[in-house]
Amino acid sequence: MKIFAIETSCDETSAALIEAEKGDKKVKLLSNAVASSLSLHAKTGGIIPEIAAREQVKYIIPTILEALKPIGSLENVDAIAVTYGPGLIGSLLVGVETAKALSYIYKKPIIPVNHLIGHIYANFIENDDIEFPALALVVSGGHTDLVILKKHGEIQWIGGTRDDAAGEAFDKIGRILELPYPGGPYIEARAKEGNLKRFFFPRPLIDSNDFDFSFSGLKTAALREINKLKGQGTLSEKDINDLCAGVQESIIDVLIKKTLKAAEKYKVKSILLSGGVSANQTLREEFKKEIEDTGIKFFAPARNLSTDNAAMIASAAFFNYKEEPWDKIIADPELYFD
Ligand code: KG4
Ligand code: ZN
Repeated sequence: MKIFAIETSCDETSAALIEAEKGDKKVKLLSNAVASSLSLHAKTGGIIPEIAAREQVKYIIPTILEALKPIGSLENVDAIAVTYGPGLIGSLLVGVETAKALSYIYKKPIIPVNHLIGHIYANFIENDDIEFPALALVVSGGHTDLVILKKHGEIQWIGGTRDDAAGEAFDKIGRILELPYPGGPYIEARAKEGNLKRFFFPRPLIDSNDFDFSFSGLKTAALREINKLKGQGTLSEKDINDLCAGVQESIIDVLIKKTLKAAEKYKVKSILLSGGVSANQTLREEFKKEIEDTGIKFFAPARNLSTDNAAMIASAAFFNYKEEPWDKIIADPELYFD
């Protein structure tokens, strides 16, 4: 079967097409078109929801047409999947209402998908090596969550952030350091040049008896160091590189320790990294190194499938196939794990 998906939860407009048959352990990617309004938000140092929504309106039709190229028309798909939350309401509405209209016109079933579950399913695109039970770490701009996948459709949330998400910490600290938006990739690049040993930032909740995270204290600690250095003059490029190395290491250290602790407790066979922060190469490498001797398999999506895209939404729809009448689907900005 072929599933066509639409994703418009934030500042990316994406449409994609996947193919898979019942019983398959992976989906085949036929197309994945992504347009982004990121460069507009870079100017303001953060996303302005109204601008993101207007850009979604501008991009949605060309993106859909691009993703349909391999099959020509929606007549040739079996179902339409769409992200219905969480996200920015104005952005979500563009995708949801478009999908509903297309479902009605072309008489195709519609499958609503939770964006966070979508991120996890980026790991099942062109990859059939995952074994259950699996533990997923979702690290995106707005979320940091650990969930157990006992099998497809059976998800158990075991912990998440109490305040800022990991991506949010990267972005807020990036802004304090006057790096371009979003801070994550820039902090990663600066950290590669930095001295890891110069700053040691706190590792919040690293030894707590739960699977929760907290990153807002890290931002305060970084701000304190930055103000101290600024008090002594201006921040040098070297200072920024060293600060980035320290901040990134603190985030990575907490993410890996907590994930491994959960993996041990729930005796999982696979760990699935996902969400925008999973594009971070250092995080991937350190995860691989730490997991090497545990016998657990480690997966992370291709880097272009780590950040927001519709291919992951189509993949989640295939493995959790549940049609809903188009008139029952409502965008839900606050949607979370059940
Ligand atoms: O999943 P995503 O594309 O959008 C949301 O659903 O939020 O995640 C965006 C987040 C941003 O916070 C961005 O800074 C972060 O992913 N990110 C990174 C990297 N690339 C993107 N964080 C760290 N290192 C990266 N290379
Ligand atoms: Zn996302």
